[in-house]
Amino acid sequence: MSDAGAARSTADAFARRFGRQPDGVWAAPGRVNVIGEHTDYNGGFVLPVALPHTTRAAVARRDDGLLVLTSVQHPGQDAEVAVADLEPGRPGGWAGYPAGVVHALAGSVPGGLSILVDGDVPSGAGLSSSAALSCSVALAVRDLLGLDLDADALVDVARRAENDFVDAPTGILDQSASILCTAGHALFLDTRDGTREQVPLDLAAAGLALLVVDTGTTHDHAEGGYRDRRRECERAAAALGVDLLREVEDPAALEPLAGSGDDGEVLLRRARHVVTEDARVLEVVTALREDADPRAIGPVLTAGHVSLRDDFEVSVPLIDVCVDAALAAGAHGARMVGGGFGGSVVALVDTDAVDSVTAAVTERFAHASQPAPRTFVVVPSAGARRLA
Ligand code: GLA
Repeated sequence: MSDAGAARSTADAFARRFGRQPDGVWAAPGRVNVIGEHTDYNGGFVLPVALPHTTRAAVARRDDGLLVLTSVQHPGQDAEVAVADLEPGRPGGWAGYPAGVVHALAGSVPGGLSILVDGDVPSGAGLSSSAALSCSVALAVRDLLGLDLDADALVDVARRAENDFVDAPTGILDQSASILCTAGHALFLDTRDGTREQVPLDLAAAGLALLVVDTGTTHDHAEGGYRDRRRECERAAAALGVDLLREVEDPAALEPLAGSGDDGEVLLRRARHVVTEDARVLEVVTALREDADPRAIGPVLTAGHVSLRDDFEVSVPLIDVCVDAALAAGAHGARMVGGGFGGSVVALVDTDAVDSVTAAVTERFAHASQPAPRTFVVVPSAGARRLA
């Protein structure tokens, strides 16, 4: 949908719900990470692109001190609460994300707000639908109330909403991608100091496409597994005497971990993923900067998957099947994206092979008695923006 069409339909939905036009409409995208998984909370590098799919927030000021939240995707789950009464976990569910943003900015929202959200970022697919939601609302509140917050501060507001209000353990990858990405580029971000570079990524010009396969699997233990991995990384860093695993550049320097206790060998593998993944991000960025044939990054993406599967142990069998099927059908590289334990796969494929790779993956799913996955090609799209 065009930005203008999305603005109109979101404003119309707002008008039907609230009986008036919104003061504005904002949008924020989901993301797919090209490479750099589970590096963000270790102070490492990431390289996401924004999806064309967005969450839209239509917002209007109120004068009764209430926050009224409604979502087209969650009919019957509206929330209404005094801004002054917001507290972490209340409201919960989908409404916790926008409420968390308003909570973080509560001192600036005395009169209250009406917020309607609508969107098309696949949820539960590892494509950051949560960040799209919190970032769309953060940008809306900032603009509408004229708050003095730069892009980094907005990223932080959205992250705090998720970490502190919703109690979702995320790093800073998803919110950074949603706010900072630009069309036609991948965002090369150093999560330790926030420095960044927009790396041109015109795959179509090279006859290539980024194919996303939403496998439709999400696992109940995904959040617990994510927390466990974070803790293991912290323990590995402590055992090595560094603040963040980012500080280790040579995988050989990780060897002492093997003898560092009962699960030293596990910590070694976890840390090895992080250290080698940082190196893979740098390798991909170098290749893209040098304008080499982007097909060269394919094997690096696949190596990232192998590392997530074997060293970090956050993949699941259906994701591995999907990666293998894409590679067997001619993808130059393929890997799981996001936190893991289900979600989506991204594959680098020749434009004229998109249909055959999609068919091969779909057939493999049918063979495994799995519902057909949802697939789409990603054009690196714009970050969060005002639509109307
Ligand atoms: C989730 C988190 C991110 C990041 C990825 C893994 O998407 O929200 O912060 O840690 O997993 O790269």
